[in-house]
Amino acid sequence: MTRIAVVPGSFDPVTLGHLDVIERAANLFDEIHVLVVHNPSKAALLPIGQRVDLLETAIAEAGLPQSIRVASWSVGLLVDYCSDVGASVLVKGVRSQVDVAYETPMAIVNRNLARVETVFLLPDPSHAHVSSSLVRQVASLGGDVAPYVPRVVAEYLQPSTSAELLSGKEHR
Ligand code: PNS
Repeated sequence: MTRIAVVPGSFDPVTLGHLDVIERAANLFDEIHVLVVHNPSKAALLPIGQRVDLLETAIAEAGLPQSIRVASWSVGLLVDYCSDVGASVLVKGVRSQVDVAYETPMAIVNRNLARVETVFLLPDPSHAHVSSSLVRQVASLGGDVAPYVPRVVAEYLQPSTSAELLSGKEHR
């Protein structure tokens, strides 16, 4: 039986911490679906298609296993996607007790909705302070995000691009 796991998130943008968790997940499961999900509680910087493109390039450039695919999901429950692709496990990276407290109710609800279990993975401690929201803030203020994100994201988030995205010229 093929063990399929979904790694969901906003990935706005993907960080080195995300890549670390995706690689760990790929070492545990036969097939990984990295799923870009619209989170209505967060103001997005990048269009979803752009997040998918950046993830695909970052995963390829990092030499991660071919068993990883990237998709997006914007309609319906996350567990509906899991049912569609035959996944019974969600993987979430947790950097701290704060993340565990945030993720636990969602894990219980997803289990109750569709018997989808959630596995929490710890990223390397060197990534414990890295978050997409921090990257968005630094990029929007013209700072260098290269220490926190894959090369392709750092190149994409040049100050001119960030300014354009923030001014709303980019299609979301
Ligand atoms: O990277 P994020 O923003 O912390 O990811 C949060 C995300 C997108 C994984 C979360 O918002 C989510 O699971 N959304 C799916 C909506 C859903 O199925 N909700 C009901 C069960 S919790």
